[in-house]
Amino acid sequence: MQEQRAHWGSSVAFILAATGSAIGLGNLWKFPFITWDNQGGAFVLVYLACIAGVGLPIMMAEILIGRRSQRSVVGALKEAVGPGWGIVGAWGVLCGFILLSYYTVIAGWSLFYFVQTLGWSLSAVPPGLQTGDLFGQQVSNGRLQLGLSLVFSVATVAVVYLGIHRGIERLTRTVLPILFGILLLLLFSALRMEGSAEAVAFIFRPNFAELEPGGLLEALGHSFFTLSLGMGAMITYGSYVDRSQSIVKMSAVIVLLDTVIALIATVIMFSVIFSVAGMEDQVGASTVGMLFISLPELFYSEVPFGNWLGPLFYVLVALAALTSTISLLEVVASYLIDQHGVARHKSTLICGATVFVFTILAALSFGAVPNLSSFELFEGKQGWFANADHFVSNWMLPTGGLAITIGAGWFMSREATSSELLDGNEPGWFHYGVWRFFIRFIAPAAVGAVIVAVLFFGVDFS
Ligand code: PFF
Repeated sequence: MQEQRAHWGSSVAFILAATGSAIGLGNLWKFPFITWDNQGGAFVLVYLACIAGVGLPIMMAEILIGRRSQRSVVGALKEAVGPGWGIVGAWGVLCGFILLSYYTVIAGWSLFYFVQTLGWSLSAVPPGLQTGDLFGQQVSNGRLQLGLSLVFSVATVAVVYLGIHRGIERLTRTVLPILFGILLLLLFSALRMEGSAEAVAFIFRPNFAELEPGGLLEALGHSFFTLSLGMGAMITYGSYVDRSQSIVKMSAVIVLLDTVIALIATVIMFSVIFSVAGMEDQVGASTVGMLFISLPELFYSEVPFGNWLGPLFYVLVALAALTSTISLLEVVASYLIDQHGVARHKSTLICGATVFVFTILAALSFGAVPNLSSFELFEGKQGWFANADHFVSNWMLPTGGLAITIGAGWFMSREATSSELLDGNEPGWFHYGVWRFFIRFIAPAAVGAVIVAVLFFGVDFS
């Protein structure tokens, strides 16, 4: 089985696939919201430090584990770290399963808003439209929710079904340039808006007096989510990387692109928000509120070219989400393929269908089914969706991330990790000893702090 393993066509193909996994709802939905909530500036700086000091070393660790073993997450950890480490891999597969099941629901909303905003652009915005009411109606409409999630799930399954080359690689090669193009167009329009200077100042001018300790931990927790770390997605994608490609350079590019795009998305959203008088007070009530309630309204009020920016923006959200959902399904499906010898087509269909059963629960938990919408497993989290997101973001990713860091830093030999990182054409700025120090000490200490914060101080990243 190992000889036949598919490999990315080039390092660019891998970079695009992995960047596609990283860029997603985390960049467009979560990051702008937490930046808003934490008063921008200082929070953004801390976030950048977490990405560089923790995210980048763990990204390199995950890719090297994948490439070394040429197996998906369970087999990879067993082979590269040690026999008992399969359990950490299984934790990752479970995490991918749960994350995919609810992520699909929000991804589906982007389809709804694309169709809505396109309709408004082509005809007119219905008089007296209240986007808050529209949002409430769509999320509590069970059939609509199931339909949207189903369309998105089918798209995800179709891509993974086609395999690494014909599916994932081809899609990400096509979609990522489009995604960058749309984003630049939106950025260009946003920078011409009246509120853009205020937006840029909000995001980039640090004021440490406003930073709360919780914000620090939130920044660290989000760096896992946004870089698709802590559950083996990068191990899985890394297992299709050829030995001749440099892990160091590729990791740096992926991390950089994800970060730049999160910042650009935030500049776009905040420029819109700051351009409309009085809007600042209305956003920020919830994460989804900013993306699906404030923005649709704003595009059609005072924003220049809002008519075409609206639909374009939701295409961007949908494409970004799709390149992430395929990586999540790949983690789950490749487990059956590699560990149980199931054929790709069969495995993809089985996994896609099983995950969808849980997607149904998440899709109906916004009011369509009262019991699913109101139960509280974690304090203050109501309904299936909120509890699942809380569990994944606060528990699964940080614990998985901690285990992977310890595995790579303390259980893999220096020879093993250095041979992976130092072969290929390593850039002059890379010093193996620095990576090793970060992966052994800095990253575990920081991630450990997140876990302690969640356990004992009730900090919440979801
Ligand atoms: N990185 C994705 C985002 O920012 O939306 C979320 C994600 C995708 C996490 C894939 C983990 C993963 F395997």
